[in-house]
Amino acid sequence: MGHPGSLLQLRGMSEEALRGLLGRAREIATGTGQAAKQEEKLVACVFLEDSTRTRVSFAVAAGRLGARVVEVQSSNSSVRKGESLADTVRTVESLGADAIVLRASGSGSSHAAARAVGVPVINAGDGRHEHPTQGLIDCLTLCEAKGREDFDLRGVRIAIVGDVVSSRVARSAIAGMTALGAGVVCVGPATMAPDGLAALGCEVSRDFDAVVGDVDAVMMLRVQFERHGNGDGHGAHGKAGEGGQDARADRPPAAPIGSVREFRAGYGLTAERAARMREGAVVMHPGPMNRGLEIDGEVADGARSLVRRQVALGVAVRMAVIGRALQSKAGAGT
Ligand code: NCD
Repeated sequence: MGHPGSLLQLRGMSEEALRGLLGRAREIATGTGQAAKQEEKLVACVFLEDSTRTRVSFAVAAGRLGARVVEVQSSNSSVRKGESLADTVRTVESLGADAIVLRASGSGSSHAAARAVGVPVINAGDGRHEHPTQGLIDCLTLCEAKGREDFDLRGVRIAIVGDVVSSRVARSAIAGMTALGAGVVCVGPATMAPDGLAALGCEVSRDFDAVVGDVDAVMMLRVQFERHGNGDGHGAHGKAGEGGQDARADRPPAAPIGSVREFRAGYGLTAERAARMREGAVVMHPGPMNRGLEIDGEVADGARSLVRRQVALGVAVRMAVIGRALQSKAGAGT
């Protein structure tokens, strides 16, 4: 289904394909491999939900490949006039885009978009479904920190903590990391880390204090207040694949946490908790961070923190993914 150069999710991707993309990204990041120039190509970044690092990093990545970039955002596009997602991406395709990077609030909207067009679609985050380039970044960062040059994470254990249920980043990270052999434990209150997450191949725990000293990495997640009480994370107009992007406009969030103070006490990566991590264990956060809520500022900026490395590797990962998309269009395979 869709174009072979698309990247819609990490779940179900073969280890070989995962390692191929990670290897390509590492070559780009370390300067050991040249990225093929894509000067005649046009990459459309369609961002129908808020974003800083992902949007800018895709634009920087496409620019470094020599491609031209056109940005479409919900605030200044016909999505606000009620245009459907399928019509929006078809319009962008008709205007000459060779690949479409899409962020949208409907879970599964990247699949709907990929069905609607004949060019590769790169999922830059769709509702609560997946955020595959962020998952690749997190895998690459973890492999680098743990010296796993072969991208084999067997024996490495990572805790993903907080609002897992709202998090497309967590879904991609779990898919990628477990495929590479890591042990993943999701930690949070039942409202945020329900037992059903075990179906994704991870453990589930309610007790951060029991886990924190027993893992090689802790990845904290932002508490996504704007998705709470919002069904499947869809926008105001409901279904995946539709327009209607602003998930926070018309529904007050429900309360999966009692209070900010209570959440921080049970599940925040406070300086005190971070001090109980194993020697050599690392701290990750895909951003944006809420300092003082899920992570203390001094931990985010501390010696264990890989937060800035995650952002930096984002450009290389996205160059690898865009390069693959554009090359596969040229008939060079997937
Ligand atoms: C996240 C996202 O938008 O999915 N951030 C990111 O892209 N790195 C997570 C979040 O919004 O908390």
